Amino acid sequence: MQLSFSNQNFKYNPSFSSCCRDVVDCAGKLVHRNDTSFFRQDIKDWDKFVDYFERKFKDAEKVNIYSLACSAGDEPYSLAIKLIEKLGEEKAKKYFPIIASDYDEKIIRMANDGYLPILDEDIDVLNFHTNGKISKYFTLADSLPGYIKDMDLFFDDLLKVKPVLRDKVNFSVADATEKCKIINNDNAIILARNFWPYLQGEDKRIKLASDLYKNLGKNSAVVVGNFDDSYGSYASKNLQDTGFVCNPEIYTIYEKYPVNYKHLSNIYIKNDNLLYK
Ligand SMILES: C[S@@+](CC[C@H](N)C(=O)[O-])C[C@H]1O[C@@H](n2cnc3c(N)ncnc32)[C@H](O)[C@@H]1O
Repeated sequence: MQLSFSNQNFKYNPSFSSCCRDVVDCAGKLVHRNDTSFFRQDIKDWDKFVDYFERKFKDAEKVNIYSLACSAGDEPYSLAIKLIEKLGEEKAKKYFPIIASDYDEKIIRMANDGYLPILDEDIDVLNFHTNGKISKYFTLADSLPGYIKDMDLFFDDLLKVKPVLRDKVNFSVADATEKCKIINNDNAIILARNFWPYLQGEDKRIKLASDLYKNLGKNSAVVVGNFDDSYGSYASKNLQDTGFVCNPEIYTIYEKYPVNYKHLSNIYIKNDNLLYK
């Protein structure tokens, strides 16, 4: 298989997970799914997402990005690729390294070793977002390590991440509910996406939201995914109840302090409240 642009008429419409794996406990009960994908669709427009970063952090020398519950790494790598492709290596530097973690030791071992399972469809998605330069960032793995074979992953191809991208993300094992307590940065973005329903009980989700609020510094925000407001989980409500403000342009972003909305003609701020004209 070649890592090249396979279909010039390709339309970007992925509806698949590139890393699929069910993790069950010893009684066979589902604990979590590692499902993730490149440029996951619930961030509807990844270019707009990076435009938002550029506006929000235009005066910041360093931006601290955390990906909690990062699974195989598709999420932090999608963001790193988009930042590099849009801003160029030099301007993107202040966003790196992205600090990624997941409590699943096996998935983090694979990410740390620079392996990435994908479906064939991912190749088109990656070429779409890199202007056909997928091979700048990835090569095909020349063998399948035994521990990955034993992981019961569903994938077509195994990629090896090249240093130009691998070096942009630090992976470690951590529980998101603990990791969020040691984040106390200004200019921080916390990707806390698509795992809230796995926290058993509303009180755990309320605690996560309030710990994030307590620990985040100035000009910081949390980003959630579509899955987080499903299966009896209400992450958006939990975040708003603790004081986060929903970004009026990208509804999956929750700001600790309201951003500068001056560029939006239909919005104004009065007594710290966002109002629509
Ligand atoms: C559906 S994947 C989401 C991956 C990625 N954030 C995304 O949106 O594509 C869920 C991941 O959450 C992880 N997870 C679940 N609960 C967690 C917790 N309390 N702390 C850290 N990781 C957790 C699982 O191991 C799994 O890899």
